[in-house]
Amino acid sequence: MIRRATIADTTRLVEIIQQVHRLHVTALPDRYRDPTPAEIAVRLSEQLADPAVALLVADHGGLVGYVVVRRVDTPGHTYAPARVTAYVDQLGVHAEAQRVGHGRALMAAAEAQAATWGATAVTLDVQGFNEAAFAFYQAIGYTVATHRMARTIAAGTR
Ligand SMILES: CC(C)(COP(=O)(O)OP(=O)(O)OC[C@H]1O[C@@H](n2cnc3c(N)ncnc32)[C@H](O)[C@@H]1OP(=O)(O)O)[C@@H](O)C(=O)NCCC(=O)NCCS
Repeated sequence: MIRRATIADTTRLVEIIQQVHRLHVTALPDRYRDPTPAEIAVRLSEQLADPAVALLVADHGGLVGYVVVRRVDTPGHTYAPARVTAYVDQLGVHAEAQRVGHGRALMAAAEAQAATWGATAVTLDVQGFNEAAFAFYQAIGYTVATHRMARTIAAGTR
């Protein structure tokens, strides 16, 4: 089942988060850092206390995955109306529990949570290296909404 996380889930969540986050640290060491378990636990407690955040877990007699989804209120301005959307900050399924539908179920629950906020879209970012995650999101109905482009430059050379 998918349920809200509680502080009692911290130890197992830290394990899963460390595992999935290390993929990012390994691929992009300049972009990501490898936090200690204590740092992850502090971050989890902040997320659990944040009313604009839902931390959901897949629990099948033990936690196998998690998703962090955040309400985003974008004010209107000259060129766009105000809107409510939801942003998936983190998603991970333990390596030993992948490809049996937990990711799909977690995202469905995140979308249901977003709907209760009145969100009209769920958005997320996938790093370019993460082809498996890209394939996953496409398989569950996500499409590319924008192309964010970047070029590494040497600081202070001009
Ligand atoms: C991405 C991730 C959350 C997917 O979770 P999962 O529970 O394995 O996914 P599901 O079993 O629900 O997969 C649903 C469908 O997505 C697609 N899919 C999932 N993983 C895939 C992969 N590695 N390659 C290609 N397609 C994939 C398949 O179509 C799959 O359906 P199928 O198994 O019937 O073929 C999981 O692989 C993960 O935690 N990866 C590491 C962390 C990560 O990259 N998080 C996302 C950061 S943006």
